[in-house]
Order: sequence, then C-alpha cells, then structure tokens
Amino acid sequence: MALGDVGMTILTALWLMLPAYLANMLPVFVGGGAPIDLGRTWKDGRRILGDGKTWRGLLVAPLLGAALTFLLQWCVENTRWGSDFGFPGWGVWPAWAVLAYLLGFGALAGDAIESFFKRRTGRERGTMWFPWDQLDFILGALAFGLLGGAVLAATGATEGNHFLAVFTWPRLLVILLLTPALHLLVNFLGYKLGLKKVPW
Ligand code: CTP
Ligand code: MG
Repeated sequence: MALGDVGMTILTALWLMLPAYLANMLPVFVGGGAPIDLGRTWKDGRRILGDGKTWRGLLVAPLLGAALTFLLQWCVENTRWGSDFGFPGWGVWPAWAVLAYLLGFGALAGDAIESFFKRRTGRERGTMWFPWDQLDFILGALAFGLLGGAVLAATGATEGNHFLAVFTWPRLLVILLLTPALHLLVNFLGYKLGLKKVPW
C-alpha cells in the first residue's frame, strides 16, 4: 500500500466518524438540565449515572452533529471532495441523516453506559477511567451505526448496509487506534480553553 493510500484511509476514517466526534464534544455546550437518571441512586447507594449525563446532552448533541453532517454530505455530493478525492458520504437521503444521528446518539449512549460502570466501581463524576473514557463513545457509535445500517437496509431505505460499505476494516482499525489519542488531545484543549474542569 502506498503512503498516499494509508493517509487517505486515515483521513476518510476520521471524516466518517465526524458525526460521532461532534456529538461527543457538544454536550459541554448544549448539555445540562434534567439528568438521565433523574437523580436516582442504584442499590449501592451511588447515583445510577450521575449529573454529568443529561437528556439534553444525549438527544440534542447528536441532532446538532447530524445537522453539521448535512454540510459534509453536501461536500461529498457536490464538490471534488467526493468525486475526485474519494471522501465517502453517509448514504442517500434521508437514510444518511438517520445514520449520522445514530453515530452521534450511539457515542453518547456509550458514554452514558460507561458512566453507569464508572459509578458502580465507585468512581465519582469527572474522574478519569482509562481507557474506557476514550473508547466508550467509539464503541457506542460503531455499534449503533452497524445496527442502524442494518435496519435502514431492511426497511429498503438503503441498498445494503451503508455502514458496512464505508466503515471498512482498515478504517475501523484507524478509528480504534487513533481516537483515544485524539480524545485526550481535544479534552486537554477544552481544559486549557476553560470549557472543561479536568484535562481528560
Ligand atoms: N454532558 C451532558 N449530557 C451527556 C453527556 C455529557 O450534559 N449525556 C455534559 C456534562 O456537563 C458533562 C460534560 O458534558 O460534565 C462532559 O462529559 P463527560 O466528560 O463524559 O462527563 P463527566 O462530567 O466526566 O462525568 P462521568 O464521570 O460520568 O463521565
Ligand atoms: Mg465518559
């Protein structure tokens, strides 16, 4: 494989994950309000999820992520970005919007599931749990993307599972290897900018 191919695999992999990355970054801005667990505690006396997981973050952030994907999808369909440079899109309308939303929703669902286990292991809100803090949202996004792609194919909204068509094995490998480092970098920048209380 030529170096250019490796470079393109990396760029297109990160590109395809942008709906999930964006959705995962947005709750810091759009989150707040009622927590998903509505303040309730588990049998161990600790919060089920904690105040860091809110409904607004879970539902609104993926919506904004999908809205931004509209621009990315537009570039794929209407510019050389797609035709000449080979950047993939998220499918045909309206299936691509559903897939983009599910990638974002899956990211935050994965994050919430991680918080459940974080609380069960006695870790307070905001503590770092490596590598789960870095992987939770990727695994959630990919799981929901895969399932969503299958459902969209079954309903006839797409011809075949579009998730499987674009999230190829080399790209999945890139996503799993590079996202933890990217996540740490973005959170460190968020901390330096005063958006986050902790640098992870
Ligand atoms: N957030 C939110 N709703 C979500 C996810 C995140 O409102 N579903 C907001 C919260 O303000 C949260 C911030 O985004 O504090 C950063 O998210 P994260 O780092 O995942 O949360 P933590 O506060 O570290 O909580 P936890 O220990 O449960 O991960
Ligand atoms: Mg987390």
